[in-house]
Amino acid sequence: RKIVSIVGARPQFVKAAVISRLIKDKYSDKITEYLVHTGQHYDQNMSDIFFQEMRIPKPDLNLAVGSGSHGKMTGEMLAKIEEVLLEQKPDALLIYGDTNSTLAGALAASKLHIPVCHVEAGLRSYNKLMPEEQNRIVADHLSELLLCPTQTAIDNLVKEGITKGVSLTGDVMFDASIFYRTLENTNSKLVNIPENFFLATIHRAENTDSKERLTAIVNALNDCGKNGVLPLHPRTKKYLDDYGLTFNKNISLIDPIGYFDMLELEANADFIVTDSGGVQKEAYFFNKPCITLRDQTEWVETVDAGWNVIVGADYNKIVSTIKDFTPPVEHPELYGDGNSGTKIVEELLKLWNSAI
Ligand code: UD1
Ligand code: UDP
Repeated sequence: RKIVSIVGARPQFVKAAVISRLIKDKYSDKITEYLVHTGQHYDQNMSDIFFQEMRIPKPDLNLAVGSGSHGKMTGEMLAKIEEVLLEQKPDALLIYGDTNSTLAGALAASKLHIPVCHVEAGLRSYNKLMPEEQNRIVADHLSELLLCPTQTAIDNLVKEGITKGVSLTGDVMFDASIFYRTLENTNSKLVNIPENFFLATIHRAENTDSKERLTAIVNALNDCGKNGVLPLHPRTKKYLDDYGLTFNKNISLIDPIGYFDMLELEANADFIVTDSGGVQKEAYFFNKPCITLRDQTEWVETVDAGWNVIVGADYNKIVSTIKDFTPPVEHPELYGDGNSGTKIVEELLKLWNSAI
């Protein structure tokens, strides 16, 4: 059986690292994977570093779509993925998460009646202004196999009338964090990390594209009285320059870093401040309090468990939460048992068996 998998953005490399490696190492007699990189992310530290460090199989094809407006980027991917699917004739298409690469893959395959399998299905922020929410809704409604990381995700799908092909698999990012933390030669090469620090990441469009929101966030981190390390997403770098915003000395700005360095910072930080989806979860995996720079989250379990606080882009809330936030002692497992990759691949095999 043949599968075409679509990746394109940083978090998808982390997720594919689990699945593509598993298919290659353990399921090569049953599944052949043709891995397509759309080229949505292309800088060395946004793309290649993940393939090299995490030993993700080299993509069979890079569509080199690059940056652009949503329509241009998605349209170009759609046309190119369609060509690939017509040529490769896979038995299924695998997509991850909620980026424009996810959307293009879902559309291209479903038009050709190729079953779409969505890893990280069912996530909702219930904010339809987010490009990610738009992408997820369409991708889920076009998918035949909906691989859900949490029960919340399954419940979200039920609310939209989707019950067929849905399964609870746990979260592949949890698998990745366990696997790569215990693998040899994953030591961080970072130097000059302060003794007590928080880790911050910012890249969400709703924050970067609003001068008001980004200004409030920058000011709050500057004024919070703690030392932070902030690997800067290229999108955010561009907007900081455009708005003329600068960080004070307490915030160490660094280029985007590889996954191993990121895990090292997450494991050693006192707490994490982020608007990333993946990083909110990783904060939880590493028992770190998380302060989320958004108005809502898809990862509501972390908030319910008391380990994540949603502060939006509100200067006062950010500063006061950084000062006062103490999570509870209880820290239940929320994202599966670290074997979600296997569950996902087994679901895929079941889909094919049931189709015979
Ligand atoms: C994308 C996803 C977002 C995900 C994020 C992960 C969409 C709509 N958004 O957002 O859901 O959380 O990836 O990081 O798919 N750029 C570079 N070099 C690169 C990549 C991007 O300079 O290698 C710059 C370009 O100026 C580009 C901008 O970053 O225009 C935004 O990139 P894009 O892929 O459109 O969206 P992200 O903000 O990265
Ligand atoms: N990440 C990384 N280096 C960085 C920032 C993030 O390796 O400089 C990893 C992070 O650990 C997580 C994934 O990238 O595994 C999350 O991606 P991102 O925050 O870009 O996207 P999101 O999860 O919000 O879609």
